[in-house]
Amino acid sequence: MAKARTQFVCQNCGTVHARWVGKCEGCGEWNTIVEDDPTAGIGGGPGRTPKKGRPVALTALSGEIEEAPRIPTGIAELDRATGGGFVRGSALLIGGDPGIGKSTLLMQAAAALSRLGSRVIYVSGEEAVAQVRLRAQRLHAADTNVLLAAETNVEDILATLSEGKRPDLVIIDSIQTLWSDLAESAPGTVTQVRVGVQAMIRFAKQTGATVVLVGHVTKDGQIAGPRVVEHMVDAVLYFEGDRGHHYRILRTVKNRFGPTDEIGVFEMSDKGLREVSNPSELFLGERNAKAPGAAVFAGMEGTRPILVEIQALVAPSPLGTPRRAVVGWDSARLSMILAVLEAHCGVRLAQHDVYLNVAGGYRVSEPAADMAVAAALVSSLAGLALPADCVYFGEISLSGAVRPVAHTAQRLKEAEKLGFQRAVLPSASAEIPASRQAGLTEIEALADLVVKIAG
Ligand code: TYD
Ligand code: MG
Repeated sequence: MAKARTQFVCQNCGTVHARWVGKCEGCGEWNTIVEDDPTAGIGGGPGRTPKKGRPVALTALSGEIEEAPRIPTGIAELDRATGGGFVRGSALLIGGDPGIGKSTLLMQAAAALSRLGSRVIYVSGEEAVAQVRLRAQRLHAADTNVLLAAETNVEDILATLSEGKRPDLVIIDSIQTLWSDLAESAPGTVTQVRVGVQAMIRFAKQTGATVVLVGHVTKDGQIAGPRVVEHMVDAVLYFEGDRGHHYRILRTVKNRFGPTDEIGVFEMSDKGLREVSNPSELFLGERNAKAPGAAVFAGMEGTRPILVEIQALVAPSPLGTPRRAVVGWDSARLSMILAVLEAHCGVRLAQHDVYLNVAGGYRVSEPAADMAVAAALVSSLAGLALPADCVYFGEISLSGAVRPVAHTAQRLKEAEKLGFQRAVLPSASAEIPASRQAGLTEIEALADLVVKIAG
């Protein structure tokens, strides 16, 4: 008889450890390790004969392969992020910080789909039906046929769902409140969350309903985060934003049925989330073009160009080790740009505190932002404001070369649409009419160029 094993699982990332440790080796979080039963909720086992799941030759699957059938919500920004609507029979995870607006977004999506004739069930484990109704009222969704249920036990939820007509869309808010009779650990632990999510995914595959699972991003280890189920679902979207700002970004990080680089942009208002179809206008809205240290980056998110202001502040440091603070960009990348500026342009920032901020709380992940960051740094150090009608993009290599980036034409078109006249960009991409643009091959030229065009 095998000895009953226990294992120790990180509640943040799901890494399994053989013994309890204070710090997770997987994600580096402290105090997130909890003892867990590895066998709970695992079916199959000895004595099973294969019935389903027999291998089939790929060539035997001939005939027309259809596109995955989708249900578009009509909320364009949401449909864009999901790749054209919810796919039938799929499970989708929407993660985000508590209070960011996940329930609001899903109630709006539920109402929109219900108006289009879909059968939608909203299962809330966090709020009572009356509370959900109150929110629906605020969102002008209370007159729709969305069905509400307040339930946390997976078996009860599945029993409820099997009553009546099959639903098209089931929303589970949230996975952290799910618990199953099959697992013994407390609700919110990795085992409970996994077992619950597994059951819901099975329901989606069997019935063809779309299941949307809400997962709170958790900072402490008491509750399992959405990352522990990311690998199980078909699509993972994160709802991001800064509490100090009104807009929210729905970012796709995994999608078995569509692209993963698309984002949906929303603005939180007193009547719920409003779609933002032109994000550049929003991000540049509060811009003060006359201040030194601000450069407009012409970026891309998936197929959509987005213009955003990069702000830098450089000041002589009173400290032995100067401060480096970055919001909205990669701090390792900033260190690299500082080193390249020092080595190739003679821009000395070793004795300066450097602060870098992407305006509006937006997060940039493209290397193409290098040039805008470098321009903002040089502009702040020189105390010269950059021209208000100029955008910057291009990747900078350690050798000081300025590398071309994709989608030059689209970036320039968006900039032009918003009234920008000039661009500083990699010269290799200057197949574009170059009347009012400055193409660069070497970063060396940037400092002079900034002083020239700003001065
Ligand atoms: P909620 O959807 O409950 O967040 P989550 O489900 O991600 O935890 O939204 C929380 C915040 O949104 C809350 O602080 C209030 C704000 N809000 C509005 O500003 N306008 C609205 O119409 C609604 C419904 C919420
Ligand atoms: Mg909520």
